[in-house]
This record gives sequence, C-alpha cells and structure tokens, in this order.
Amino acid sequence: MKPELGGNKIIPVVVINKAEDTLPTVNALKNGGITIAEITFRTECAAEAIRLASEKSDGVIIGAGTVINAEQCRSAISSGAVFIVSPGFSQEVYEVCKEKNIPYLPGAVTATEIMNLIAHGITTVKFFPAEAAGGLDTIKALASAFPGIDFIPTGGINTENMKKYLDAPFIRAIGGSWMLKGTPEEIEAKTKSAVEEANR
Ligand code: 3PG
Repeated sequence: MKPELGGNKIIPVVVINKAEDTLPTVNALKNGGITIAEITFRTECAAEAIRLASEKSDGVIIGAGTVINAEQCRSAISSGAVFIVSPGFSQEVYEVCKEKNIPYLPGAVTATEIMNLIAHGITTVKFFPAEAAGGLDTIKALASAFPGIDFIPTGGINTENMKKYLDAPFIRAIGGSWMLKGTPEEIEAKTKSAVEEANR
C-alpha cells in the first residue's frame, strides 16, 4: 500500500521536543502550503505530538517517522498516524503496518535492500540518507534497475538542491527537516519558498 501524500511534493521531517510546540509547528507548515508531516519518534513526546496533530490539525496528513520497532509503531498508529516511516526496513514494523492496514515507507539505499522491499510488496522507498548515499546519481542507477519503484529521497535535501530530485520521473516526493528551524513565522516563510521552488 502506497502512502497517500495529498499532492504534497515535500514531506517535512518534524522533531517535536515539547508537545506544546506541535500545533504551532504543524500550522506553520500548513500556512506555508504543506499539508503533510512526518513526526519522528526521536523524542519522549512523539506519540503525544502525533495525537495532538492528528486531532487538531485539520486537513494535514500526519505520519510517524523514525519508527524502529513494533511498540513505537503500535503507539504511533493508536495516536492517529496514517503512515509509518523508518530509516531502514524493520520486519516487525512491517508486520504491524500490515495488520493495521497502514502504509509503510521504509528506507533503502542499495539494490539488495530494495529487492527485500519488493519481496514485501513495497514499491515506494525512502532513499535515506540521500545526499550521503550518492544523491540523484545513485537513485538514477537504481531506478533503471527497478522500474516501477518510486523514491522519496531524504537527508541533506533543501530548497537549493530539491528541484533536481523532483524533476526526475522516479521521484515521488522529497523529505527533509530544513524548513523546520526557527520560530513558527520562520517555518512558514521557509515552507512557502520551498513549495514555490517545488512548483517552479
Ligand atoms: C530523516 O530522518 O528523514 C532525516 O533526518 C531528514 O534529513 P535532514 O534532516 O537532512 O533533512
């Protein structure tokens, strides 16, 4: 099952340190023109942030990121996450997603890793860490071997280098955290310029 991106070309990778930052952050993204957010399980309040965002951010697709085990996956889904992202592939996360009928977007950067995802019926791949793993050249080489696979490169991407990725036919969207630094006003402004660049 492919994650539903709601027409967004950019998936913000959100780290919430305090639950009260959740709504100002997600609303700043929304006001800037992005209606999807991957809230990462890297902080204590991740599940609470996902719950708040899912319940109160109308029209924003909320997923969970950096989900590395079944327990986090169950917690994310029961808090309202509608898609699950991992930096790599986890069999136990895959199984929970399958049981709950929730799309799973795992990371992969090698042919062997992609073949493992295909064997699990997964055709949208988070290419992470994108820039460090060779960027667009590596994805191009992999895409020619795996037609039908969509890539979502993430890691080291920003407004300056995003367009070359988005222009490639095998790139479904890009992910990143660069627009999330600063105040809600700054987040909104960076989001707006990112969306403008994506649509250029
Ligand atoms: C992720 O987990 O997807 C990355 O931390 C995002 O990468 P970035 O911070 O370089 O954008």
